[in-house]
Amino acid sequence: MYKIQNHKVSENPLYRTHLDRDGYERMYRQSIEQPDMFWAEQANRFVEWMQPWSKVHESNMETGEAAWFIDAKLNVSVNCIDRHLKKRANQTAIIWEGDDPADSRHITYRQLHEEVCRLANVLKQRGVSKGDRVCIYMPMIPEAAFAMLACSRIGAIHSVVFGGFSPDALRDRIQNAECELVITADEGVRGGRRVPLKQNVDKALASCPDVHSVLVVRRTGADIGWVEQRDIWYHEACAQVSADCAPEPMDSEDPLFILYTSGSTGKPKGVLHTTGGYLVSTALTHHYVFDYQEGEVYWCTADVGWVTGHSYIVYGPLCNGATTLMFEGVPTYPDASRCWQVIDKHKVNVFYTAPTAIRALMALGEEPLKNSSRQSLRLLGSVGEPINPEVWEWYYQVVGQRRCPIVDTWWQTETGSILIAPLPGACDLKPGAAMRPLFGVVPALVDNDGNELEGPADGNLVIKQSWPSQIRTVYGDHQRLVETYFSTYKSVYFTGDGARRDADGDYWITGRVDDVLNISGHRIGTAEVESALVLNDWVAEAAVVGCPHDIKGQAIYAYVMPMQGVTLTEDILAQLKVAVSEQVGAFARPDYIQVTNGLPKTRSGKIMRRILRKIACDELDNLGDTSTLADPSVVDSLIENRLNRG
Ligand code: WT7
Repeated sequence: MYKIQNHKVSENPLYRTHLDRDGYERMYRQSIEQPDMFWAEQANRFVEWMQPWSKVHESNMETGEAAWFIDAKLNVSVNCIDRHLKKRANQTAIIWEGDDPADSRHITYRQLHEEVCRLANVLKQRGVSKGDRVCIYMPMIPEAAFAMLACSRIGAIHSVVFGGFSPDALRDRIQNAECELVITADEGVRGGRRVPLKQNVDKALASCPDVHSVLVVRRTGADIGWVEQRDIWYHEACAQVSADCAPEPMDSEDPLFILYTSGSTGKPKGVLHTTGGYLVSTALTHHYVFDYQEGEVYWCTADVGWVTGHSYIVYGPLCNGATTLMFEGVPTYPDASRCWQVIDKHKVNVFYTAPTAIRALMALGEEPLKNSSRQSLRLLGSVGEPINPEVWEWYYQVVGQRRCPIVDTWWQTETGSILIAPLPGACDLKPGAAMRPLFGVVPALVDNDGNELEGPADGNLVIKQSWPSQIRTVYGDHQRLVETYFSTYKSVYFTGDGARRDADGDYWITGRVDDVLNISGHRIGTAEVESALVLNDWVAEAAVVGCPHDIKGQAIYAYVMPMQGVTLTEDILAQLKVAVSEQVGAFARPDYIQVTNGLPKTRSGKIMRRILRKIACDELDNLGDTSTLADPSVVDSLIENRLNRG
């Protein structure tokens, strides 16, 4: 349909960029050969410090320990707000576009300062101080960003929980981080529908006795439950405190936030990021990857509940004094032209979204783009999963009118900032490739035994040197950091992704090599879905795998084995789907549930997921070796009853 072709740097004279190819290569070389000199210079360029560091960095890739800008002091909210007041107090910091196209707000840097200071004072008044944990469970409204920044102002550690998570998932995260205060809204609004956030908080808090305060933003004015003493209206509390709040000087290695993410086993992990290195990396990558230019409007469509929202809606852009757009709604409401309307309405220059959204919009055809000009667009970004080359071409040709480079940015919650991406103007573009490592990033491919592969190769993606926004620990379980990321292969960080390096040395991310699913860009552990499926009296055992899905990237395929004497009726299967929504969130609801009396297990009792994956994908010609199975006959029955037939 669209011709898939590589795009040479030199081909598009419209790319206005901070760096050309030589510039990138020079900076990259310096970042590897003289990392301390490189990072000291960048840290001074992108961040304002209250006290300098005594040493740029110290790290150990065997134990996963890392410290950056040691002994330096700074405050993130000062960097994202106060620092800009001299020059851009009246510039818009945040453009908020509501779910309803008639709703939008512009918040200047001066207003942002006041909002954040007031909220910080409210937090202090409620007894929150440096190092305390605050849970933020919010819709996409500016108060979510105020809340993050207010925490950073007083040194509290925020844990943002995506508003799509269920009360049970919220409870687990509040308990794990030992949060003492929750910031939420009465309801969220998405695609014309209400999300009962406060009600979810009330349910979660039934088993979180340590939460003493709940700050509630009035978003819709809905009737909500109210617990006297504990619950406080956000607007009332903010009106009663001073509009100034002295920032807490933070150590570069003091924690900034915890963000939960799924792994291949067990409960979600609380990824902990610290202050100095994280801010330097997010600001630097926002500047170079999006080639951000003074005065531009930048729109990242992620939710602040995910790391993309942390690093590239809030911290990176605001640290750079950008105008960042925050969108409350969904791309298809009120109709499929919404994103393009928003781009024209606010003259968006940089648009950063996920392949799943592009696929959904592409499926609706070109008609919805016809009544928008999109002339303001200069650069497009993609994140969260591999982008199919044909989707890349549609994004490039139709959305960007062949004028805008696409940056396919590879990174993870754990990496804090983008690690691999084609720097616009400095790098060729290949549809589907994340291309080149950013400054200070040393990727490598290893085989399953950990041997490094040279030249063009396919392997497991690892990172060989520490970078400033590297995960510091798994909250409350440091051993898990070491086991998950620094033990699979010796002396390197293991990403969990597979990748290919082509003959030009460019990287193509091929997807997870572990049991982590990627559903519409949402990262979900198979173990989380499996435990939700067995939490009842009907299911004895469950195994969950992913299979390809045109829009979502992957769909969830679950195999369930009934308890002795139980018949899994349609009604029970429907209840199982509800159970997953309740335990995890609606986005994790299985697409297929196949009932089976046996799972393919080895003689030692290990489920052979490879076989389940193939059956779920309807790829039957190459099931591989089944001879080590305890009972090879289960495979035939699984095949016979499979649900996803190509
Ligand atoms: C996983 C991390 C990082 C922000 C959003 C997701 C996949 C991410 C790409 C990309 C191919 C990608 C990887 C990674 N991923 N970006 N450009 N190309 N895959 O953060 O929830 O921590 O998920 O997303 O599999 O490991 P996350």
